[in-house]
Amino acid sequence: MRSSAIIVAAAATLAGLASASPAHKFDKHATHIAYTYPNGTFTKPFDVVTNGKAQQLPSNNIVSEVFVAPPFDGRRYVLTSCSFQAPSNKSLGAVSIRKPTTVPVNPPAAIGYVTCNSN
Ligand SMILES: *[C@@H]1O[C@H](CO)[C@@H](O)[C@H](O)[C@H]1NC(C)=O
Ligand SMILES: *[C@@H]1O[C@H](CO)[C@@H](O)[C@H](O)[C@H]1NC(C)=O
Repeated sequence: MRSSAIIVAAAATLAGLASASPAHKFDKHATHIAYTYPNGTFTKPFDVVTNGKAQQLPSNNIVSEVFVAPPFDGRRYVLTSCSFQAPSNKSLGAVSIRKPTTVPVNPPAAIGYVTCNSN
C-alpha cells in the first residue's frame, strides 16, 4: 500500500467544501477537528489541544475528509499546523491553516492521532 497523504489543497478549491462543514464552536486553545466518512456522515467536532503533542483521536473507520478549525483568539484565527497519524502511527501528512478548512484525505485512511501546533 502506498503511503497516504493529506493533500494541502489551495484555499480557493476548498471554499465549496468548507460551506458544507459541520457546525462548530471556538475557543482560544483548542483546534476543532471533525471527521467525514466516505458515506458523507461526519462526527461532531472534537477539541484537540494545540500544544504540539500527539493526541489520540481515533476515527475508528476510514475517513475521506477532515474538517480543521484553528483556535480563535477573539479577533482572528491563529495560524495552526496539524499532522495526522494512522492508528499504527504511520504519517498521513500535515496541513497548515489560518481559517476553518476541510481537507481531503487522499487516499482515504483511518486516523489514530492528531498533533496540532501554533506559534
Ligand atoms: C457511515 O459510515 C460511518 C463510518 O463507517 C458509520 O459509523 C455510519 O454508521 C455510516 N452511516 C450511514 C448512514 O451509513
Ligand atoms: C503512537 O504514538 C502515540 C503517541 O506518540 C503512542 O502513545 C502510541 O503508543 C503509539 N502507538 C503505536 C501503535 O506505536
